[in-house]
Formats: sequence, C-alpha cells, structure tokens
Amino acid sequence: MMLQTGQNFRTLHIEGMARTFGDFKALNGITLDIQRGEFVALLGPSGCGKSTALNCIAGLLPMTGGTIRLDDQRIDLLKTEDRGFGMVFQNYALFPHMTVRDNIGFGLRMRGVPGAELNRRVQAAVALVRMQEQAHKLPGQLSGGQQQRVAIARAIAIEPSLVLMDEPLSNLDAKLRLEMRQEIRRIHMQQHATTVYVTHDQEEALSLADRIVVMRDGQVQQVGSPSDLYDLPVDLAVADFMGFRNRLTGRVQMQQGQRVTVAVSGAGGATESLMGRARHGGLGDRVVLAVRPDDLTVQPQGLPGISAVVEMTEYRGRGFQATGKTADGQTVYFSVDHAVRIGEPVTLASNPDRALVYPA
Ligand SMILES: Nc1ncnc2c1ncn2[C@@H]1O[C@H](COP(=O)(O)OP(=O)(O)OP(=O)(O)O)[C@@H](O)[C@H]1O
Ligand SMILES: [Mg+2]
Repeated sequence: MMLQTGQNFRTLHIEGMARTFGDFKALNGITLDIQRGEFVALLGPSGCGKSTALNCIAGLLPMTGGTIRLDDQRIDLLKTEDRGFGMVFQNYALFPHMTVRDNIGFGLRMRGVPGAELNRRVQAAVALVRMQEQAHKLPGQLSGGQQQRVAIARAIAIEPSLVLMDEPLSNLDAKLRLEMRQEIRRIHMQQHATTVYVTHDQEEALSLADRIVVMRDGQVQQVGSPSDLYDLPVDLAVADFMGFRNRLTGRVQMQQGQRVTVAVSGAGGATESLMGRARHGGLGDRVVLAVRPDDLTVQPQGLPGISAVVEMTEYRGRGFQATGKTADGQTVYFSVDHAVRIGEPVTLASNPDRALVYPA
C-alpha cells in the first residue's frame, strides 16, 4: 500500500539541493519553498538543470546534497512511488497497447484501488481532460494534443499531492501548444494541485505560473511573480532570457530618481542618449541599457534619440521588426509601424519606463 505522502502538506521545502555528475555540478544548491496549491515554473536555458531538479524532486534521480521536506517530513530518501507524485513527461510515455481509460487507470491499479472506486476516479479524470469520446481508443489513434491530455489525466488520476511536468508541450505545434496551455491552467484552477512545471519558454511560464524560478548553471537566479520577472529582471542574464534583446553600452549622463539618461557615441562623434530605469549604477558609470524590441521605436523626424541604419526588416503582421546598426557599431532590434528600407537612417528612442539600466 502506498504512503499517502503529504496529501495535506502546507509547504514543500527544498534546501540546498545539489546533484553532481562526476565533477560537473548540474545542481549547485537550489533552495526554494513551494506552497500547497501553487503553480511554480522552473524556467531557464537548455542545460541549466531544470529536468535534473524535477527528477530529484520526483525521486527518479538521487541528490548528492541537500534535503527535501514536506512540512516536517523528510522525503528525499523515499522511493519515487512512496512520494506519490504525478509526473508528465515531454514525450507522453503512454502505454501503446492500453486504451486511454487503461492508461489513465494504470497508477490506480498499481496502488490496488478497488474496482468501483477505480472506475469512478478514471471517469472523473477522463472528464477533466475532456476525453470521454476517445476513452476506448489506443494512443496510436489519438492526435498529439489528445495524447498529451491522457498523460496529464494519468498523472492526476492518483490525486497526487504534487504534479511534476517536464516541458509537456514541447512536442506540439504552435496552435495546439496554446490550447493545451489553457487546458493545463484550467485543470490547475479546478484541481488546485500543487504543480512544478519545467519549461524553457518564457511565454509559457508567464502565462501559467503563479511564481517563476529562473535558473542558470544549476542555480536559482531570480524568483518572482510573472510581472516581477517581466518588468524587473534582477540582472542582465535574466533580462536577456526575458526578451530584453537589445543591450546598448554607454555611460550614465544624468540621473533623476529612477530615471537614467545613458549616453552613447552617435553619428559624427556626437553624443546621443536613451532613457531607462536605474537598476544599479551612478553618474559616469559604464552601463548597459537593456530593452525589448517592442520598446525601442523609430522617432518622428526632429525628435531626439540614437541614430541607426536599417540592416534588415521582417513583416510582423502588426508592423515590422527591424535590425540596425548604431553609429558606434552596436546592433539594435526595434519595431516600426511602417515599412523601412534597408540602408535608411532612423532615430530610435527607448520607452523610459520599460528600458532597464544595468552596470556593464
Ligand atoms: N546522466 C547525466 N550524466 C552526465 N551529465 C548529465 C546527466 N544528466 C544531465 N547532465 C548534465 O546536467 C546539466 C543539466 O541537465 P538537465 O537535463 O537538467 O538540463 P535542462 O535544464 O533540463 O535542459 P533542457 O532544457 O535541454 O531539457 C546538463 O549540462 C547535462 O549535460
Ligand atoms: Mg530538460
């Protein structure tokens, strides 16, 4: 009989979680508290340790340091099956010879849940992912999105205290990915299952999570709400990951409260400037102004900004996105609502509330 580990836990405490492979530190001290009912996304570039972290929580991979507790109970030494967590993998991992209904009921059968209750819970899980019509089919007879739903239903049918998902949408096409994203959100709202969701897609993390944990090189870089992360990344690395594609190097020319004017050398050696919000740095400091392409725009004639020459443009339906070079040779990515020609000179200004100024 399975331990009903922490069905009513309040907090999952991860403390100093470490995992080495030989000399390589895949996880280098992750500390994080997750509250019951929370949807937490682990976000970071390929190889930063997201799957390793998830597998350590699941018990599929032993840790080489640190502890995991549910409230006061240490669980990191328990076997996977005794933790009672639900897992959804990137590749669905459905049993090809079992029907949808049998796939979803698998975990319950393994746990010796009696027939009548098993049927009731399978029925409920099938309904939750809206697969009633397909319940008799084999995985091979389903679309990718339908298979993904079965995988989710299988994970939640055991009514786990924690659902762990590793890039569950990465095999789906763009439209299906959007649909399934909403579906996952809907199921979470309905079930309130605590969820840890791994992704390298910032949009997915922003739209799904209550809290985002940005990881890099096996460490936590920043933890915050989606809007914290979107608006105020703590450093340039996180900013880069959150879509601040432009990084313009210059010097602080003026500072009034949070508002910083950054000077760059412009056309013919003249000083030109952009404005942003101070993250750090003082007058005269070398800084990097980070800004998203949507927040760096072409100025009407005669208004100030930095000079650039258009090198490439891309049609984006609603306007254009362009690449250019500043007078001092820095690459800029900006948006413009009308077509611009390659080689055309433009003046660019940053949205002062949306551009962030970091120490260089
Ligand atoms: N079994 C292993 N043996 C050796 N190195 C490993 C092993 N598993 C993972 N690693 C290394 O640990 C690091 C983290 O891997 P992990 O799979 O956690 O990354 P990830 O963040 O999930 O990346 P992705 O987004 O590509 O899935 C990588 O550098 C990887 O090469
Ligand atoms: Mg991974």
